[in-house]
Amino acid sequence: MSDRAALHVVVTGAAGFVGRALVARLLRERRVGARPLGALTALDLAFADAAPAGTRQAEGTRQLVGMRQLEGSIADRAVVTRAFAEPVDLLVHLASMPGGSAEQQPALAREVNLHGTLHLLDACERQVAQGGPMPRVVFASTIAVYGAAMPALVDDDTPARPAMAYGAHKLMAEIAIADATRRGGCDGVSLRLPGVLARPPVRTGQLSAFLSDLLREPAAGRDVVCPMSPAATTWASSTPNIVDNLLHAAALDTATLPSHRVLALPTLRFSMAELVDALAAVHGPQLRQHVCFAPEPRIEALFGRFPPLRTPAADAAGFRHDGDLPTLCRRAIES
Ligand SMILES: NC(=O)c1ccc[n+]([C@@H]2O[C@H](COP(=O)([O-])OP(=O)(O)OC[C@H]3O[C@@H](n4cnc5c(N)ncnc54)[C@H](O)[C@@H]3O)[C@@H](O)[C@H]2O)c1
Repeated sequence: MSDRAALHVVVTGAAGFVGRALVARLLRERRVGARPLGALTALDLAFADAAPAGTRQAEGTRQLVGMRQLEGSIADRAVVTRAFAEPVDLLVHLASMPGGSAEQQPALAREVNLHGTLHLLDACERQVAQGGPMPRVVFASTIAVYGAAMPALVDDDTPARPAMAYGAHKLMAEIAIADATRRGGCDGVSLRLPGVLARPPVRTGQLSAFLSDLLREPAAGRDVVCPMSPAATTWASSTPNIVDNLLHAAALDTATLPSHRVLALPTLRFSMAELVDALAAVHGPQLRQHVCFAPEPRIEALFGRFPPLRTPAADAAGFRHDGDLPTLCRRAIES
């Protein structure tokens, strides 16, 4: 990051599930590490909240208190150029088409998840070439890069062999970020995020949405069907934990990171039975009557065979998971 005092932060995918939580935290804390937040540009295809009366509105841009909302696609270079109209110190790149939608529309997914990322990196490189600050780029990659057939233990040396377009595009983006970093066009960190809990009930194409339903629905006295068996094991983190880790990546000293700049995040691994036990410990034993198991082989193959995970590089760099499963459940619901 540059050493100008106040940061201009751009968040792509700012209207999404993680993006909203990150933007709320940034606006609340008004700093990133030791440096104050100067300006925040929130970029997304659309923002649901209407522009408040009296706000400026021009060319898809709205001024809110302390934040500029920029509506448009990262696949459109002109939109990306507008995001970089003022020098950018920190780019948190969250915008993407999720896995289920990406499989259905792989060409559009490539435009967004790969080409959109390349447009953002081009803008970073242009800014540096024109004498501007070197932007820190924090990229939300995914454990989907490992693919379906994982080894008995996943660690920092596990090869990435994505089984779906979504994971393939994320892996390509990781490589492009490392290459732009090597050439001095940005200072990138790619974080491989696990499942993030708990997503709101609106369906936006994530095949893993049932995990969020499991946390939210029985706690509210509603029945839920788990499409994985009690013994199926998965990895997940709460939204506040993921926001902590994104902000940690934003302020981190990157000098000691590996040259590929990719970190799998520390993450809790648990079975569906352990999850229900933790939920019962948090919300009471009556919760169990609201959960039934109806395993679907495709879903279990994608999300239910996660082996133990070791993340020494991220641990050494100060990234953390939720600590324990009841804490994850509580934080996920509170968020
Ligand atoms: N939520 C998870 O469990 C999880 C797990 C692993 C990785 N990730 C990654 O973390 C990031 C954030 O995840 P999320 O759950 O908030 O996703 P989300 O789908 O809720 O939000 C993504 C946002 O990106 C926006 N977007 C899509 N296409 C765009 C485009 N062309 N231009 C601009 N904006 C566009 C969408 O409108 C949406 O608001 C994503 O990159 C995702 O791949 C999430």
